[in-house]
Amino acid sequence: MAVYGVLGDIHGNREALEAVLARLDAEGVTRLLCVGDVVGYNADADACAEALRSRGAIVIAGNHDLIGTGRLDFERCSNKAMHALKRTRRSLARATADYLCELPAHHALEEHVLLTHGGVRDVQQYMTKPQHILENAAYLRTDFPGRRVCFFGHTHEQKVFEVDGDRVAEVPASGTVRLDPRREYFVNPGSVDASRKRAHKLAEFAVFDSGASTVRFEQTPYDDSATESKAAAGGFRIDRWRDRLYDVQRRLVGPRHIS
Ligand SMILES: [Fe+2]
Ligand SMILES: [Fe+2]
Repeated sequence: MAVYGVLGDIHGNREALEAVLARLDAEGVTRLLCVGDVVGYNADADACAEALRSRGAIVIAGNHDLIGTGRLDFERCSNKAMHALKRTRRSLARATADYLCELPAHHALEEHVLLTHGGVRDVQQYMTKPQHILENAAYLRTDFPGRRVCFFGHTHEQKVFEVDGDRVAEVPASGTVRLDPRREYFVNPGSVDASRKRAHKLAEFAVFDSGASTVRFEQTPYDDSATESKAAAGGFRIDRWRDRLYDVQRRLVGPRHIS
């Protein structure tokens, strides 16, 4: 049993990640769990991967980590994501690519905890609705028996779904949430990267105390203007014309064949 900082959807945002790590350092939280999407959207993929690697974080692969290293195609990506991931593919250091390629799809820890990025069986599934949670609770029981607290990412929103048999209830993801040992939970710690959010550019994370069976949801400001200027200078932001060009390419050759 331990206290963990739980992070996800960092997306190459060094400023946001450093702000979160500073908060965790101040609390003395040294164990880190990351539910994937280390890279994509922003310019500092290498620095983010190195920060996690050097701290011995437990990290699983998100769809952006798979696409950024060429192990998944652009079929289910928006043009904005595809554009940034094409830049990521070209700019990743070899050591970062090697690190990302070794990340597993899931990680089980303690007796009852699992990390997944999207759905339990589909890394690109957005688990946003109770029906998605019910479907994935069934996969969890089949594929990972005994695991009843599942941390996930991909939807970029702090969330807690509580499962009691075939009923799903959403618990407000704010402050400290106590996890009932008789229930199953799907918990999203939020997105470290806030570059895609229109307002409130706050890096989100959670602190999981497995001994006390609690999850505390946190947010912290970071230097968003630095992130944006590096992303723009590095060519990670799509313009209107490129967006249209990708639409045409998708129609003509299909997203699988855009490289
Ligand atoms: Fe993401
Ligand atoms: Fe994702």
